[in-house]
Amino acid sequence: MRSIKDLDMAGKKVLVRVDFNVPMDGQQNITDDTRIRAVLPTLRYVLDHNGILIIMSHMGRPKGKKVPEMSLAPVAKRLGRLLKENVMMAPDCIGPDVQKMVNELKSGEILLLENLRFYPGEQANDDEFARELASLCDIYINNAFAVSHREHASVSAIARHAPLSAAGFLLLKELEYFHSAMDNPRRPLVAIVGGAKVSSKLGALKNMLSRVNKFIIGGAMANTFLKSQGVDMGKSLVEADLVAEAGDIVQQAARENIKFYLPVDVVVAREIDPEAESKIVPVQEIPADWMALDIGPASSRLFAEVLDDAKTIIWNGPMGIFEMDAFSRGTVSMVHSVANSYALTIVGGGDTDVAVHSTGQSDRFSYISTGGGAFLYLMEGKTLPGVAALDRLS
Ligand code: 3PG
Repeated sequence: MRSIKDLDMAGKKVLVRVDFNVPMDGQQNITDDTRIRAVLPTLRYVLDHNGILIIMSHMGRPKGKKVPEMSLAPVAKRLGRLLKENVMMAPDCIGPDVQKMVNELKSGEILLLENLRFYPGEQANDDEFARELASLCDIYINNAFAVSHREHASVSAIARHAPLSAAGFLLLKELEYFHSAMDNPRRPLVAIVGGAKVSSKLGALKNMLSRVNKFIIGGAMANTFLKSQGVDMGKSLVEADLVAEAGDIVQQAARENIKFYLPVDVVVAREIDPEAESKIVPVQEIPADWMALDIGPASSRLFAEVLDDAKTIIWNGPMGIFEMDAFSRGTVSMVHSVANSYALTIVGGGDTDVAVHSTGQSDRFSYISTGGGAFLYLMEGKTLPGVAALDRLS
């Protein structure tokens, strides 16, 4: 895949696709700018090499309509502050006004286009929409790892129309870390998979099974696995239609001599409520009208021991409802165990990333991905459409 470093950008219009889909507080304030900071090296590189910088992104899911609350204007301000440069905000992402602004830009100037998803053509991977975007540039750079699992116009179809295309530093770095953990890892390789649903991670679980030495399962998805082992889960969330499949995975792990670990105790409550009465019980003793909402302390200790000899750890998904203090301890404890490891430690974005950040331990991990869905897509063993689009050209 061609890298941004392979191109001469002096005086060229460089259109960089980033993922500025950042969390907002509902009052137009950005609550976490990690994704903005993550693309600064690429943007700086364009500016330092005298390129004319045009940036594009989506924000939220406006469903092809102009939704003012999903404007990227607040991002332009934050980006300007981080780059210490003036960032102009375009009123749209295509059309004559944008063309005019782009044509008047000079080297060193920066223009952020308005939310791509204000047009249905973006998510439809529409060729005409992609052509209009591509007409704004001499060089197209994909630096939007977190949305590269989507077959969208600014990620996929655009590469057919831009005169030159390449990958930015963030996209390259994400792929490099992921593949160093998966393709030829230092072993033991341990995968920790959590989160609410087996269904959303089935593909990843199956793909990882043939690659890892040990598997740790936590979060509500562990309920379905425990159920498959004959454990009575009370009122806990269990995906009944996947119990048999979960059982097959456990059996396959045993056949292939992959160590498979499930929680041995859980924190239970009668309802999902931060104030609800809770208690710790062995999984064999979950009362009929209670539900598991976090792993318990014995599980945390067990999982820490499992990680003790790991040389590579890949983690995706929290161990419980960590947003509620009463059910956050399993995830926090996992953050500490992984942070204390000498292994190469790679963490998927989304919820896991939020959990790690909330403990202030982010710098103790080898790499924290900026992508949630995109990271999972890689765990499924698939090639990202955004990467495939660039690959086709190289
Ligand atoms: C993300 O936040 O995971 C990406 O920006 C993709 O967003 P989407 O799930 O709305 O496509």
